Parts: sequence; C-alpha cells; structure tokens
Amino acid sequence: MEPGFDVVTGAFSFTGRALALRLLSEERRVRTLTNHPQRPGSEEIKVDVAPLQFADRAALVESLRGADTLYNTYWVRFRQGKLSFGDAIANTRILAGAAAEAGVRKIVHISVSNPSLDSHLDYYAGKARTEEIIRTSGLRWAIVRPTLVFGAGDILLNNIAWLLRRMPVFAIPGLGTYRVQPVAIEDVAEISTWAAQQSDDMTVDAAGPDIVTYTEMVEGIAIAVGRRPRYVFMPPRLTLLLGNIVGAYVHDVVLTRQELEGLMQELLVSHEKPRGTRRIDNWLLTNADTLGRSYASELDRHWR
Ligand SMILES: NC(=O)c1ccc[n+]([C@@H]2O[C@H](COP(=O)([O-])OP(=O)(O)OC[C@H]3O[C@@H](n4cnc5c(N)ncnc54)[C@H](OP(=O)(O)O)[C@@H]3O)[C@@H](O)[C@H]2O)c1
Repeated sequence: MEPGFDVVTGAFSFTGRALALRLLSEERRVRTLTNHPQRPGSEEIKVDVAPLQFADRAALVESLRGADTLYNTYWVRFRQGKLSFGDAIANTRILAGAAAEAGVRKIVHISVSNPSLDSHLDYYAGKARTEEIIRTSGLRWAIVRPTLVFGAGDILLNNIAWLLRRMPVFAIPGLGTYRVQPVAIEDVAEISTWAAQQSDDMTVDAAGPDIVTYTEMVEGIAIAVGRRPRYVFMPPRLTLLLGNIVGAYVHDVVLTRQELEGLMQELLVSHEKPRGTRRIDNWLLTNADTLGRSYASELDRHWR
C-alpha cells in the first residue's frame, strides 16, 4: 500500500470493525491485522488484510511500515488454554515495538475504564500494564478507555437478550444496584479517530451519556425484546455457577469472575464528563428485532 494508510487490528471483529468503518467513511485507506479475514460481512469492509501475529516480528514490522496511525484493539477477554493475560501483555509489547520500528506516527490504544496496576483483577491490572507499554513505546499515543460497549456484533448485551428471550426467570447477581455507563461502539470509534488527530498524547474515557443500574439495563433489554421475566436476585457466586451451566450448554465462557467483579465494583462507570452521545435505549429499540436472536460465542469468535 502507498504510505499514509491506517492500521486497525480486528476489522472484522467488534471494536476494530467500527474503527475501520469510521476511517473508511473519512476516506482513509485502511489495513487490518487479523486472523479472521473470512467472518460474515467482512466483504463489506474494504480494507487490506495482513495477519495479526506476534511470532514473526520482521513480517509484523513490514505490515505496519508506511502506516500513519495504528489503532490497537488487541486483547483477550479471559485466560484460556495456553494463552494468559501475561501473553497478551507480551504480545502488546511486540506490536507497539514493531510499530515504533516501522515508523508509525501514532498509536491509539483501546483500553478499558478504570484499569489499575494494583487491581486484583488480572483483566484490569493487565490493561494498566498495556497502557504503560504504550506510553513508553517511543510513539505518539492516545489511550481510549471504553466502559461497556454496545453495538452491532457485541457479545454481552446480545447474550443477555438471548437469555431473556428464552428464560421465564432472569438471575441478577447481588442487588443489581451497581451502575454501568454503556457507550455506543460508534462513539468509541469517533473518540478514537478524534484522539488520533490531537497533537498532545492523551488518556480519555469513552463513556455514554447515561448511567443506569445493572438491573435497569437488563430491564431495558427485556422491554426491547418484549419479555417480562421474573428477576431473581442471588449471590454472585451462584450466578457464576448458573453462567457455567449455560456455558456448558452453548460451549462458551458466558461470564468470568473478573468481569462480574469489575461490573459490581462499578469499573464500567467513567469519572469524566461523557464524550459519547448515543443512548443505549435508542439502540435497543432500533435493534430489538435482531438482538439476542442467536447466541454470540466468544470461543467461536476467537479461540476455535
Ligand atoms: N467489548 C467491550 O464491551 C469492551 C469494553 C471495554 C473495553 N474493551 C476493550 O476494547 C478492545 C476490543 O475489544 P472487543 O470486545 O471489541 O474485542 P474483539 O473485537 O473481539 O477483538 C479485538 C482484537 O483482539 C483479537 N483477539 C481477541 N481475542 C483473541 C484471542 N483469544 N487470541 C488472539 N487474538 C484475539 C481479535 O482478533 P481477530 O482480528 O482475529 O478477531 C481482534 O483483533 C479490547 O482491548 C477490550 O479490552 C471492550
């Protein structure tokens, strides 16, 4: 490709897809690094494709040479098989190093709201480690920290809807009063491309305009898909157990302890003025027909 293009990891996946679409709408040329070039709908996203791999550094550098901005969405949702959060941190270091060697102008790194090196949750501590790697990469950088992301291709909200469509009873962990601040995937993409254009290095949250309790969010999904389940409030450990039972049925990891703890500790709420403008209720109502019709499997998407 002629120099001046942008690189996005995972353009046929979730966040990377929205980023690629946003960049294409701005008439940017895009290359994606991915191991899943054949996902349904991938033909609609007109991008150049190279592998997202960390073993052949020279090839990785070549795939980044001539790029203006690298939008990095790479991370793993949980530890599985031989791949740990430590491996994902090491891979992030390789990717950032390759970008620096290739002469990339800037890296926009997608993190998560409220990461912390001190967190006992490996997910959040790991994300804080990746942020350190980006800040010391020698590249210009922007770190974008989304809260709970909703939009086409999301997993969590879709699967809540999937359960609501099938079950007369819905289990809420604890009291369900902990808050979340969902953000639209299009807002995450807009904030990221805006951050790429700023002259200062920066760390910004990507959060939506509404803060709701977890129960309110689930009720919103239930209303959108036309269900009125009985809500059962139960100890978090029991909901994880139920999640494991559903997981065995759908051959997936439905919810991890880390995700549940992060949710209940309100780590998916921003402490900044929201930059996102799109409302989750609008999205739920306009996507009610398709939401939760089929189960979205993390293991199918990334691990099989
Ligand atoms: N989803 C949310 O609600 C949310 C909320 C806050 C923060 N975030 C952050 O946003 C970023 C993107 O998340 P996402 O949900 O949009 O992820 P995603 O699109 O499903 O995946 C992002 C990238 O990571 C790669 N990847 C994921 N799991 C992998 C695995 N097991 N092995 C190898 N590669 C793997 C994907 O590879 P392929 O290209 O091959 O698919 C893709 O390039 C992450 O850093 C995440 O922490 C997400």
